[in-house]
Amino acid sequence: MPRLDDLTRPPGRPARILYGGDWNPEQWPEETWAEDLRLMRRAGVTTVTLGVFSWARLEPEPGAREFGWLDRLMDLAHAHGVGVVLATPTASPPPWLGHRHPETLPRDEDGRTEWWGSRQHFAPASEAYRTHAAAITDALAARYAAHPALVMWHINNEYCTHDWGDEAARAFRTWLRTRHGTLDALNTAWGTDFWGQRYADWDEVLPPRRAHYLRNPGHVLDFRRFTSDLLLECYRAERDIVRRHTPHLPVTTNFMPFWQGQDGWAWAAEEDVVSVDVYPDPADPRTGAHENALVADLTRAEAGGGPWMVMEQAAGAVNWRPVNRPKPEGLNRLWALQAVARGADAVHYFQWRPSRQGAEKFHSGMIGHSGEHGRAYRETVRVGADLARLGPRVAGSRVPGGGIAVLHDWDSWWAGRHEGALSDRLDQGELVRAWHRALWEAGLPVTLAHPHHDLAAHPLVVLPHLYLLDDRSITALERYVAGGGHLVCGFFTGVADPDDRVRPGGTDARLRALLGIERIDEWWPLAADESTDCGTFRGGLWTEELVTAPGTEVLASHRGGPLDGRPAVLRHGRTRYLSTLPEPAALRALLTEAAHEAGVRPVLAGLPDGVEAVRRGDLLFLLHHGRDPVTVRVPGRHRDLLTGTTVDDTLTLDRFGAAVLEEHP
Ligand code: GLA
Repeated sequence: MPRLDDLTRPPGRPARILYGGDWNPEQWPEETWAEDLRLMRRAGVTTVTLGVFSWARLEPEPGAREFGWLDRLMDLAHAHGVGVVLATPTASPPPWLGHRHPETLPRDEDGRTEWWGSRQHFAPASEAYRTHAAAITDALAARYAAHPALVMWHINNEYCTHDWGDEAARAFRTWLRTRHGTLDALNTAWGTDFWGQRYADWDEVLPPRRAHYLRNPGHVLDFRRFTSDLLLECYRAERDIVRRHTPHLPVTTNFMPFWQGQDGWAWAAEEDVVSVDVYPDPADPRTGAHENALVADLTRAEAGGGPWMVMEQAAGAVNWRPVNRPKPEGLNRLWALQAVARGADAVHYFQWRPSRQGAEKFHSGMIGHSGEHGRAYRETVRVGADLARLGPRVAGSRVPGGGIAVLHDWDSWWAGRHEGALSDRLDQGELVRAWHRALWEAGLPVTLAHPHHDLAAHPLVVLPHLYLLDDRSITALERYVAGGGHLVCGFFTGVADPDDRVRPGGTDARLRALLGIERIDEWWPLAADESTDCGTFRGGLWTEELVTAPGTEVLASHRGGPLDGRPAVLRHGRTRYLSTLPEPAALRALLTEAAHEAGVRPVLAGLPDGVEAVRRGDLLFLLHHGRDPVTVRVPGRHRDLLTGTTVDDTLTLDRFGAAVLEEHP
């Protein structure tokens, strides 16, 4: 299997971290191209992504092929020693496709068409779309298979369309037949006897389109599964085409970060390189840094713990928030180094040069509108120099495994978001984010994981909230704890089975036994302005009226309110159960205590506030997410690879400063 290592550690050459970004030079006169490449070289750019969204240029009318401009670009890139990550252009079909084949356009749940004029206007089940996408992919792959600039394939872009149209309906039925076998089984799985929804014929089964009132949760859940699988099928089709031409080159598709639309675990398994786009808001550098850490920990886990790729980030501002702030000086570099610390071997951006026209003309680039003398490019050069320095020591090395696993699963996320939920404030993604942040703030080594993964590698597993758990996951948790593992479990977990059917007793009996819960009588969600007094902390979002099993220790109880005197936090053997969401400092304290008990220590003790420490291979990355200079104690003698200076016991990090330390002999 081709891997990222093939590009970052080429035989006979020094290892390197890939550095570059989306390059869309077809918007510019050709004179600009050579100028771009000159500036890229100066900045240490290794790789560019070409051709994302270029379909209308490559195939200006059905069957026509206009490769000349791309030939010249590929040649030019190669002549400048820049590798090309070549995108299949299928995320933005040319207007002629929608015009001639309106069925290639997606329909929303109200039956409204998404027209061309933007991008991602394709119906993934459409035969016409697939046929044309396959043809242009095949032509592209055939033409450039032997081109020396080509280093990797980038399929489509941020697969994210949804389609409720007629072809989607047919494909949905086929998918449902595979999953359920018979219509009877489907009726049973969806519980269609409720509200008289029983299906008598497959043709009656539709995507969950606009309906009068709440839709069937099993139906909606299966449609989300189907949509993820359908898009994956599109990815696979193009991947298989390019693989036929270039079996030696890695293939990726760029994920949106921590996003509901695709089952990241299932998708990552189909890629040679796992890549992700990450755009935290620079207006809040601390929260942004956490977002980076979360996305990195998830992406690294999806990549099986090995190197992964930042396919896109912004050098400065994006242009899709209500107010778009640039990155203050130093933040771009810090966040690039943070990704590398957490396992990235490739740091790419959207995009090299900001467009002068089109919807994203105010989105930053690696070189800003102010040009080669502007701050953006200056920082781009600095980041490139840092990555070049780190490459030989870092590329291919691994962030140590073990540590704390935070469990996350898309099936459960989807099921929990149903419109008939007890609280629309409850979102697995937000809970994973809150718990991960607590661990990140505590400086503990952490990764994300799926309950089916090998949990035994982790002394502590935390499960913020998995509304839906299949039997295999429950057994895995039982085995994990029986085998000596420590588990912290959050509320409203193990409530549903894979058909989104409530487990007997409300919460699965095996899970209750594991956590020392006799029963949960009521779930009591809290409104945004409500909280519960648990003695030493306040809890928000959720509470439960629960009865403990004999022998379970109550660590905190509710004081006042409807659950006055009832248990809120439990300990039973090596498990803890949180029936509410403690405020951030309390959650951090609670998880830190559990980590301590499980023998997991912070990466570096005694860090000043805002400093993140990460180990990768035998290096220690120190990243300062604050603005005021801080002094960090690092016992021993080290050398900072970024500056070449020797560090004896302490070092000072300035605003958004970073150091990458190796032990000094
Ligand atoms: C996404 C897309 C890019 C660009 C950026 C802007 O990540 O993949 O094409 O639109 O957003 O932030």
